[in-house]
Amino acid sequence: MRPLVPPYVETLKAYVPGKPIEETEREYGLTGVIKLASNENPLGPSPRAVEAMKNAVTSVHLYPDATSFHLVRRLASHLGVKPEEVVLGSGSNELIELLMRTFTTPEEEILLCKGSFPAYRISAQAHGRPFVEVPMREGFRYDLVAMARAVTPRTRMVFLANPDNPTGTAFGRKDLETFLAAVPKDVLVIHDEAYAEFVDWPDYASGVELFRAHPNLVALRTFSKIHGLAGIRLGCAVMDAKLVGYVHRTRMPFNLTVVAQAAGMAALDDTEHVRQTRANNHAGLRYYEQELLKLGVTLSESHANFVFVDCHRPAGEVYEQLLRRGVIVRPMAGNGFPTCLRISVGTPSENARCVSALKEILS
Ligand SMILES: Cc1ncc(COP(=O)(O)O)c(C=O)c1O
Repeated sequence: MRPLVPPYVETLKAYVPGKPIEETEREYGLTGVIKLASNENPLGPSPRAVEAMKNAVTSVHLYPDATSFHLVRRLASHLGVKPEEVVLGSGSNELIELLMRTFTTPEEEILLCKGSFPAYRISAQAHGRPFVEVPMREGFRYDLVAMARAVTPRTRMVFLANPDNPTGTAFGRKDLETFLAAVPKDVLVIHDEAYAEFVDWPDYASGVELFRAHPNLVALRTFSKIHGLAGIRLGCAVMDAKLVGYVHRTRMPFNLTVVAQAAGMAALDDTEHVRQTRANNHAGLRYYEQELLKLGVTLSESHANFVFVDCHRPAGEVYEQLLRRGVIVRPMAGNGFPTCLRISVGTPSENARCVSALKEILS
């Protein structure tokens, strides 16, 4: 009998998401557990989006608009691009898969940064695409020089998370432009900007600004973080209109629900929620930096909505101790960082609870 699955599926390890609150409360006999493990929006969803979703549920007996006509237009005007340069996905995760299946063959390689967002590697392997991983440089940063050197005639696609997950580090416009100049034009460069709205650094450049000058550049954005809509699954990609046309050929028509389309439209209008989310994040990052550095740990330079903490000891134990105290964070051994934890910015009281638990554990 033939094997049930191809060898690349047999050896694939499934993505491990953050531990759910309910499961932690059950296992540890706790109540009031807090989760700082999935870089979600601690202020909750955009209130305007919630209102729009309530209205939209009365229409869910109908299939959604397969072209997401209104949301595509609203988003294009928000980003300053043309509607034909935008594709929507069920989260940017779906777009990662769509890009791979649209633009790569099993003979072509995908270039990744080792230790960065695991969805790229998992998606490549699930599609039977070979991938090459280039280690980070010091400071848990993408090594764009080494990545440019690792491009070969087999390379078809490169994923750059900027800011990176899990390290939070970012690279600026000059480094991105140097990389784009070094890479052949038939290699697609996917600039994943899931955390772009949190960046407060003038050197940062979005692919949304650069893709016209570089038609092989794709910018990925998500509504999961800044708009607090992780549960509704809504992401977008901005790229050359010709590339968009190809993605539409492989995309299933109803990949965005009626409710998600309504939520996206309203979230873009909710500038107050975005403002509060950024302000809370900025204060949370400063607080973590100030308090955690007193505990003998090292933090990478975060431009996102989480911090990456090197505990300089096996972080699995620290993670376990935090769980016992009702605080869920993310251990990073799976990404190849056994002494590190990723901690999302929460509300001020959640951050304080996490810091005080870490003080007990690390002192
Ligand atoms: C770098 C990066 N890209 C993409 C995603 C996925 O986002 P979405 O919820 O839009 O699928 C995440 C989520 O954590 C992320 O960190």
